[in-house]
Amino acid sequence: MLKKFKRLVTKVLYSESEQVVEFNSRTDEVEGIHYLICRAIVPDIPEMLAIEKSVYEGNTPWDFETFKAELSKRKTTLYLVARYEDELVGFAGVDFKRANGEAHITNVAVVPKHQNRGLGSKLLRVLIESARKQECQNIVLEVKASNDNAQKVYQDLGFKILNRKKNYYTEEQEDALTMRLDLVPAMGRG
Ligand SMILES: CC(C)(COP(=O)(O)OP(=O)(O)OC[C@H]1O[C@@H](n2cnc3c(N)ncnc32)[C@H](O)[C@@H]1OP(=O)(O)O)[C@@H](O)C(=O)NCCC(=O)NCCS
Repeated sequence: MLKKFKRLVTKVLYSESEQVVEFNSRTDEVEGIHYLICRAIVPDIPEMLAIEKSVYEGNTPWDFETFKAELSKRKTTLYLVARYEDELVGFAGVDFKRANGEAHITNVAVVPKHQNRGLGSKLLRVLIESARKQECQNIVLEVKASNDNAQKVYQDLGFKILNRKKNYYTEEQEDALTMRLDLVPAMGRG
């Protein structure tokens, strides 16, 4: 009886852990700087909010509770933080469970003094790699029509503009561009 129970517990725990999106912390060198890239955890949120403030003129488009809710979806999302000498200097996130094998880049930001060194692209590349492992067929994102800088980063990674969503950002009454990166080569689709 005890053996049966143990087997059942192991099975349940194993299948649960199988579903969590795995990420092993790593150190990556970008332009001679070593960044520690880890999965974001709740204690990181105050520093993530500080990054938001630093790039969005003191505003935080996502509040503490929104970050917390996103980080808790460990089976369907992956949020990464990059640290340089113990300081959190960037983050990026992806949601894997969209219809039709689609992943969705939900957020990305790099503190101004670490921008333009390739860190944003590095975080996005790690998420793209992870989406491939999750067997997603494409990755989409929305970006403000006026955010040329971010659009250029996405374009350099292979994202293409798919459509324009009128007044998607309701507060600012600004359009969004939807961009998509296909992960499955056209030939492989049959
Ligand atoms: C968008 C954002 C995350 C990009 O982060 P980043 O770390 O500056 O991005 P990268 O450094 O990878 O790329 C930016 C520029 O650096 C260049 N670059 C890339 N790798 C580089 C490297 N190894 N060395 C030097 N420059 C590099 C890129 O070509 C790009 O230059 P260009 O557009 O002038 O040609 C950052 O600008 C940001 O936080 N913006 C505010 C928040 C935001 O808008 N988020 C997106 C919401 S949709």
